[in-house]
Amino acid sequence: MIIIAIDGPAAAGKGTLARRLAAALNLPYLDTGLLYRATAKRVLEAGGDPANAEAAMNAARALTEADTTRPDLRDAATSKAASQVASIPSVRAALLDYQREFGNAYGAVLDGRDIGTVIFPHADVKLFVTASVEARAKRRQAEFVARGEPVSLAAVIADVAARDEADRTRTAAPLIPAEDAILIDTTTLNADEAFAHAMAEIENKAAILERMAALKD
Ligand code: DC
Repeated sequence: MIIIAIDGPAAAGKGTLARRLAAALNLPYLDTGLLYRATAKRVLEAGGDPANAEAAMNAARALTEADTTRPDLRDAATSKAASQVASIPSVRAALLDYQREFGNAYGAVLDGRDIGTVIFPHADVKLFVTASVEARAKRRQAEFVARGEPVSLAAVIADVAARDEADRTRTAAPLIPAEDAILIDTTTLNADEAFAHAMAEIENKAAILERMAALKD
């Protein structure tokens, strides 16, 4: 059972990388950000306040598969609300078992903010994927434009920087690299290069684990 944990800030290329690794290694893939986005959407649609712990926790507990597969989870309002619900400990607790069960069923590639630190602290491989704020904002801006929602780069930089700050400084499962995470900076890497780099790191880690197992025998 292989668990690959991929953490890092918004728009660092985690999702693209995680999807490609999952396909190459024949593992299921979970985008855990969708759980927080779907929780936020439920609260917003009920007219609630995403900063209200009880409303957000109830929404997280009531989450269904259909909530997480809806196509409208990436707009700016939902992104902001997702960051708010993600800072609430009872929301994170409500989503923990689902993530662990998903990974423990067949192994998995999971991406998020706390996969290698909280959800799977014993993951086989932990990658911390990052990039400069400007590089990440440019990618996010391109995604908005592709969806027909043009937005200025300055606005996206401000938004990405604010969410980074919120994710890093919250007390519940803040965004920090696990001590044993492999750092991948994608500022100057395209998707193919990031994938090749990650695969090389995974193969290297697998070889080390094999050698350690052989020493034990
Ligand atoms: O990865 P994303 O942008 O879709 O995540 C949406 C929000 O959820 C973001 O503010 C960080 C938060 N999140 C989290 O706190 N823990 C995770 N494992 C995944 C996402």
